[in-house]
Amino acid sequence: MPKTDVLIIGSGIAGLSFAIKTAKRFPRQTITVITKADDSESNTKYAQGGIAVVLDELTDSFEKHIEDTMRAGDGLSNREVVEMVVKEGPDRLEEIMQWGIEFDQDASGNLALGREGGHTVNRIIHFKDITGWQIEQGLLRAVAKQPNITLLPHHFSIDLITEHHFSHKISEPEPGISCYGAYVMDQRTGRIEKYVSKVTLLATGGAGQIYRTTTNPIIATGDGIAMAYRSMARVKDMEFVQFHPTAFYAQDENPSFLITEATRGHGAYLRTKDGERFMFKYDDRGEMASRDIVAKAIDHELITRGDECVYLDCTHFPKEDFITHFPNIYEKCLAKGIDITRQMIPVVPAAHYLCGGIEVDLFGRTSITNLYACGECSCTGLHGANRLASNSLLEALVYAHRCFLDVSEKLNDIPVNESIPEWNAEGTIVPREQILITHTRKELRDLMSDYVAIVRSNERLERARKRLDILYHETELLYEKAVLSPQLCELRNLITIGFLITKQSQERKENRGGFYNMDLEA
Ligand code: FAD
Ligand code: SIN
Repeated sequence: MPKTDVLIIGSGIAGLSFAIKTAKRFPRQTITVITKADDSESNTKYAQGGIAVVLDELTDSFEKHIEDTMRAGDGLSNREVVEMVVKEGPDRLEEIMQWGIEFDQDASGNLALGREGGHTVNRIIHFKDITGWQIEQGLLRAVAKQPNITLLPHHFSIDLITEHHFSHKISEPEPGISCYGAYVMDQRTGRIEKYVSKVTLLATGGAGQIYRTTTNPIIATGDGIAMAYRSMARVKDMEFVQFHPTAFYAQDENPSFLITEATRGHGAYLRTKDGERFMFKYDDRGEMASRDIVAKAIDHELITRGDECVYLDCTHFPKEDFITHFPNIYEKCLAKGIDITRQMIPVVPAAHYLCGGIEVDLFGRTSITNLYACGECSCTGLHGANRLASNSLLEALVYAHRCFLDVSEKLNDIPVNESIPEWNAEGTIVPREQILITHTRKELRDLMSDYVAIVRSNERLERARKRLDILYHETELLYEKAVLSPQLCELRNLITIGFLITKQSQERKENRGGFYNMDLEA
């Protein structure tokens, strides 16, 4: 049985930054990071715009960033959390820069600050338009320098180990539940082992793959949230799915290629097919309105006009200027047949970020003892009804640190539970056909995109609930008798995520931020 002092599930910014600082602080303790794909594969790797941090004392202040975050969150952000995250931002940035991660500088040698929707000043630090790649590579290099970290790619976490796996059954959430690690499949052998730990951190990221059009890579299947929910952790705010306004429009592309909001911060316009710059009809900030407003506006234009996409117009930028700031977007668009210096980029909204998730307190503690969560899988209260652009990487860094602080207080005192049962695969058989899994996954994506996307209604949500119920029962039957595969586990997790988004949407009785039910309109 693999034993580790600290088990981290996920190798994005949240998991890796927590791993590095915990490993440095506890050189004699073992830290294991398991991750289900290659070591770098994550939402983090694809981040473009950057990290929002208050650095420029002349133009910016903590108060301004706090107010921008509160306004984007449409009144549902927790002010205490917002203040804490914003104020701790500069120190966390400084720390990762000390680990060797570099960002773009301006002509005076200061960090260059970009702008995105909902921000009233320039405060986004970045590395070209591949900030996430830069961060992920830097963190992996820092991880490699820590001898007490073991990073295990292609290891899939199936379920958390809690009292549910012992003899007695627990039917209600209760403070007594603790986490003792996770059951993990080595994807190269198919073998499932128990990873027993003192402390477990869920850093499994988002769930964009539940929608047909998403910027999230294929790993984003909400596994951590579903595992936590099955273990009876509290999960909240799942109705607040953030749709990014501008993903490159290409049918059947998964994931969709993001065109960073920083292009609009740099002066790009949104236009309809016939050239109308429509955003000022919806908000006096025009293209710089927050993401929920821009995505909804585009959706409205598409529905009323019957068009398949709108356009992002960058043709007025000098070519060299665009290539300096957005080299990856320039290349990718060119490869897709769009020369942005002459042609507008076809764009549509795409599922991008899950504002809700596993409920945590100010130190990333979940409602289950010794189980922490941070990054996109968690719900801290920062984002409220809609996340402000580039606040996600910031939140992950700040909360990874706060989880670290709390874990540091107790790690030496937590005993390892030696009496964990092995994974029980008795009576299961290899399924005759995988097609049932792939078809159900497609059905799920379609139903979530058709009924539980940017615009919802009571009827759509009810339809979704009924269909989800069928998919749930069919998949549970499959799960009970099949030899497990990551594909089956992901499907099961996605159905749970679909259920949570739909159920919590039905429970919400007012439209806020990224949540819009047309039956609730006054
Ligand atoms: P991730 O980086 O997604 O990492 C999750 C990890 O968990 C992965 O390693 C995954 O393989 C692993 N995992 C998942 N399930 C399992 C399992 N069952 N077993 C084992 N491992 C598992 N935010 C910003 O603030 N600024 C930006 O500019 C920005 N741009 C973005 C651009 C794109 C295209 C996307 C998709 C997102 C962007 N975001 C941005 C959002 C931000 O990147 C993410 O919210 C953030 O990186 C999440 O980090 P994380 O560590 O929580 O999760
Ligand atoms: C983007 O670069 O537009 C994405 C930024 C974010 O998701 O915060």
